[in-house]
Amino acid sequence: MSKVTVVGAGNVGATCANVLAHKDIVKEVVLLDIKGDLARGKALDSWQQAPIDYYSTALKGTEKYKDTKGSDIVVITAGIPRRPGMSRDDLISTNAKIVTSVTESILKYSKNPIIIIVSNPLDVMTYAAHKVSKLKPNRVFGMAGILDTARYRAFLATELNVSPKDIQAVLMGGHGDTMVPLPRYTTVAGIPVLEMIAKDKLKAIVERTKKGGGELVGLMGTSAWYAPGAAAAQMVEAIVKDEQRIFPVCAKLTGQYGLKDIFLGVPVKLGKNGIEQVLELDLKAAEKKLLIKSANHVKKVIGTFNKMKLA
Ligand code: NAI
Ligand code: 2OP
Repeated sequence: MSKVTVVGAGNVGATCANVLAHKDIVKEVVLLDIKGDLARGKALDSWQQAPIDYYSTALKGTEKYKDTKGSDIVVITAGIPRRPGMSRDDLISTNAKIVTSVTESILKYSKNPIIIIVSNPLDVMTYAAHKVSKLKPNRVFGMAGILDTARYRAFLATELNVSPKDIQAVLMGGHGDTMVPLPRYTTVAGIPVLEMIAKDKLKAIVERTKKGGGELVGLMGTSAWYAPGAAAAQMVEAIVKDEQRIFPVCAKLTGQYGLKDIFLGVPVKLGKNGIEQVLELDLKAAEKKLLIKSANHVKKVIGTFNKMKLA
C-alpha cells in the first residue's frame, strides 16, 4: 500500500486528499501546506469522516517536508488560483517559484516519486517540475485533460439527457482556451456523438468547454475544486492499481505529433510506472493545426518560465 503526499491543502489539494481517502486504496495521505494548521485541520476533518464513510486511509496534515518521507506519489496543488479577469498564464510569476521550490523540497525526502502537477499554468508548471526534478518524464506529468474532458462530457450529458457515464471523449492540447476537443473521437455508449447532436449545438459545447474554467471563476470568484481534486485522485488510483487506463494527461513529448521539448495534453496510458505509453492519434490536418497552435502558445509561456532562471 502506497504513501501519497498532496502539497497544498487549499480547495483542490484538500478535495484530492479527501477523494483519495474515500477510495481506500493507499495506506497514508500526507497533506502539506505552508499553513500547517490548515493542513492539520483538513486532514483531521477528513479522518473524522472515515468512520462515517468507511475507509482506513490515514490522513496527516503538516508543514514539514520530513513527514513526506518515502512518498510513492506526490500531487502538487500549491500556488495561487486565478481570480476573475485573470488568465492561467497570469499566475506564472508566483506559481513558478512555488512549484520549483516545492519540487526541490519533496525530492529531499522521496528519491524517485511520481509527481502529478495541478498548479497553473499547468503545462508550464509540469515542464518546470520536470526540469527541476530531473526525474524520468514518465514520472512527472500534469492533470488537466481529465478535468477538461469531464466538463465536455458533463455538458454533453446535460444536452443529450443521458448519463455522463456513457460519454467517452478525448481532448488534447494545453490547459487553456487553445485546448483541442476532438468531436470525431467522442461517443455516447459507442455511438458517434455526431449522430446524436446537431453540429451547431456541439460547436457551442466545445466553445463552452474551452472556457469552462473561466465560467466557474466567474461564478465563484476563485477556480474550481471538486472536479479538479477528483481528477487528480483518479490519476493516483490508476497508478496505485496499475490500471493501464487511458486518460488525457499533460506529458512530455519527444517527437510525437511532430512536437518535442514540450509538455502538452495527449492521451496516455497510466499504470504503476506513471506514463506507460503516449498514444499517437491519427489526427486530421485541421485537428493537427489546432494542436500546433496550442503547442505554440504553451511554448511561449515556457519561454517566460525559462527567462525566470529558476531551473
Ligand atoms: P487555494 O488557494 O485554495 O490553495 C492553494 C494552497 O497552496 C493554499 O492553501 C496555500 O497556502 C498553499 N501554498 C502556497 N504556497 C505554498 C508552498 N510554497 N508550499 C506549500 N503550500 C503552499 O487554491 P486551489 O483552488 O486549491 O488551486 C491550487 C492551484 O491549482 C492553482 O494554481 C489553480 O490555478 C490550480 N488549478 C489547476 C487545475 C487544473 O486543471 N490543472 C484545476 C483547478 C485549479
Ligand atoms: C480550471 O480549469 C482554473 O485550471 C483551473 O478550473
